[in-house]
Amino acid sequence: MGLGPQAFVDISALKHNLQRVRQAAPTSRIMVMLKANAYGHGMLTVAKALQDVDAMAVARVGEGIKLRQAGISRPIVILEGCFDTEEMLQAAQNDLELVIHEPGQIKMLQQQDVSTSVNCWFKVDTGMHRLGFPVAGAMDAYNALCESRCVSGKVGIMTHLSNADDPQDPETDHQIRLIKPLIEKTGAIGSIANSGGILNWPDSHLDWVRPGIMLYGSSPFNGKTGEDDDLRPVMTLQSNLIAVNKCFKGDGVGYGKTWICPEDMPVGVVAIGYGDGYPRHAPSGTPVLVNGRMVPLIGRVSMDMITVDLRTYPQAVTGDQAILWGKGLPAEIVAQHAGTISYDLFCGVTSRVQFVEGLPL
Ligand SMILES: Cc1ncc(COP(=O)(O)O)c(C=O)c1O
Repeated sequence: MGLGPQAFVDISALKHNLQRVRQAAPTSRIMVMLKANAYGHGMLTVAKALQDVDAMAVARVGEGIKLRQAGISRPIVILEGCFDTEEMLQAAQNDLELVIHEPGQIKMLQQQDVSTSVNCWFKVDTGMHRLGFPVAGAMDAYNALCESRCVSGKVGIMTHLSNADDPQDPETDHQIRLIKPLIEKTGAIGSIANSGGILNWPDSHLDWVRPGIMLYGSSPFNGKTGEDDDLRPVMTLQSNLIAVNKCFKGDGVGYGKTWICPEDMPVGVVAIGYGDGYPRHAPSGTPVLVNGRMVPLIGRVSMDMITVDLRTYPQAVTGDQAILWGKGLPAEIVAQHAGTISYDLFCGVTSRVQFVEGLPL
């Protein structure tokens, strides 16, 4: 195998993290988040590895169809529901459950041929102000959905937490308090918890939990890493040094010469760049793990390469391994430097990167 970017996907870590969900919410059923290519980890790889979960969720009908075409038989929930009647029919044909979040979708279900039937969830907006029916009037909309001609089975109720990544924010309790009476009144099954809810708000667990980022080994909480909650990183993004240059005091490194060598020093060039999904905004000082030694990124990230300061590891040579995040270097730390979140880093890894199941050597 030549040098270059590879994303290792550690299935045993994925299974360990699923076990952590089970420990944290032992009486709830689990709907795993596989949207956006399983947070960039490879939707089919993850789906095949997690066949024993209660359900899988993706954002769009097209993602659900891909899972069905790959032979996945678990219940599949479409978080954004359907955009038009064609998608609604595709959902019915592929046995995909739709999350219904706005009146137009109920109308579609009311007007459809009775021979079509689809399982549905009803989404309530308890404060996120993104998708869902407002709490006021939710009961009427829920009843209308349940009575729609082509809705089959009992309709579950879900909401989404807007700030569960901050354990101090009272908004989460408020959201839980808003949705519970509706769930109790209707006798519906309920679902609130994302990873933050699962790990920090037992009151949010109810019948179904919906883990995303914790499955992939990252912490949902600001300022923490997955390890703090006994989660293991699933993705390790690695590449190699493809050059080690001797630079001199005063040399500017990379585009714009934003980093000036303070002394004569070795500078390593790693074959990874924003064309691979490494964040272009990662500033000088962002850690990179070269052969297990933490060294700082210096200069601008370019499309195919980054440069690193090797003064603390002058023995480094071309070919050495460079881990950008994953085992030994939490993605949360890199994300913090780059002013983003680990979700964004994972989803951003591009198709140029070779995905490999397992762990790097
Ligand atoms: C509706 C819904 N539920 C659950 C999740 C999982 O969230 P997390 O990755 O924070 O666990 C998401 C992710 O954005 C979501 O949109």
